[in-house]
Amino acid sequence: MLAIKNQALRSSFKGTSYRALSTSPVSKTANPIKCVGVIGSGQMGLGIAYVTANVTKLPVVLMDINKEQTEKGLKFIDRLLLKDVAKQKITQEHAEETRARFSTTNTLESLSDADFLIEAASENLNIKSAIFRNLDTICKPEAILATNTSSISITKIAAATKRPEKVIGMHFMNPVPVMKLVEIIPGLATCPEVLETTRTLATSMGKTCTVVKDIPGFVANRLLMPYINEAVMLLECEFASAEDIDITMKLGTNMPMGPLTLADFIGLDTCLAIMKVLHENTGDSKYRPAVLLQKYVDAGWMGKKSGRGIYNYK
Ligand SMILES: NC(=O)c1ccc[n+]([C@@H]2O[C@H](COP(=O)([O-])OP(=O)(O)OC[C@H]3O[C@@H](n4cnc5c(N)ncnc54)[C@H](O)[C@@H]3O)[C@@H](O)[C@H]2O)c1
Repeated sequence: MLAIKNQALRSSFKGTSYRALSTSPVSKTANPIKCVGVIGSGQMGLGIAYVTANVTKLPVVLMDINKEQTEKGLKFIDRLLLKDVAKQKITQEHAEETRARFSTTNTLESLSDADFLIEAASENLNIKSAIFRNLDTICKPEAILATNTSSISITKIAAATKRPEKVIGMHFMNPVPVMKLVEIIPGLATCPEVLETTRTLATSMGKTCTVVKDIPGFVANRLLMPYINEAVMLLECEFASAEDIDITMKLGTNMPMGPLTLADFIGLDTCLAIMKVLHENTGDSKYRPAVLLQKYVDAGWMGKKSGRGIYNYK
């Protein structure tokens, strides 16, 4: 039965168009958003695209340089919708409408119609700068360019464009459909209207916003990543097993998951990249990335997404 429903979702997708939905709260703002572009079809990009289409009810174009990622992404969206229908969280009709709001692409040029772009590609300044440089030439002059970076300076990313006043940090938490927070980070040149439009969009996604200055790691990762890094250092020194480190924090401090499980969930490459940003940008040795974290990433053990990280998921 689920397979039949899946087929229905697939056929409804074919008729995707970029029309603004009159029910969208975002379409009532001074700077109406009619279409959202999401760059990066990894765990964060998919979550952001899902919430945009499902909660905000806006058409979304999902872009990734890797075709396999966009194909995998659509299958993931199908599974999420089917699950929600099966749990009676949403109706079949709602699922089909949501699915029809998705389209995918493997080129940035296809994002030229989007009014609001959210970049969620890998945590690497060179990759992000290149994306923003290209978006600046492709997108409409009034389009807002947001980044979901976990730690990289918004001001630095904005400097790759000729519209730094329209560039902003929009830091979602993982998993996006579940986590309620969005950290909003204006860069040095970001204008107040862009901050307000971003806040309105995040609120329409059902999120609570905090506004944070453009400092390395912002607030969430300035606090979280040194904690995770310290847990990897404890493991590196063999002071305790991975399981015991996690159980200590889970049962001892009521964390929903231990720091090493969380690191695998976030992605060890992302954790390492954030620690490097904290270390390089503050010059403070307290942010030195754990050697073991680097080793895991060198081995291609990125965490849950690659099937192996601190724990083995295969
Ligand atoms: N993982 C988390 O818990 C988390 C939380 C908040 C923010 N973030 C941030 O979100 C961003 C994405 O993280 P993720 O966990 O989804 O990573 P991921 O590795 O799951 O996905 C990254 C995606 O970006 C794509 N990509 C790489 N270069 C690209 C390019 N030039 N153009 C288009 N796509 C490109 C990759 O193919 C991949 O699909 C990072 O900046 C990360 O720091 C991550």
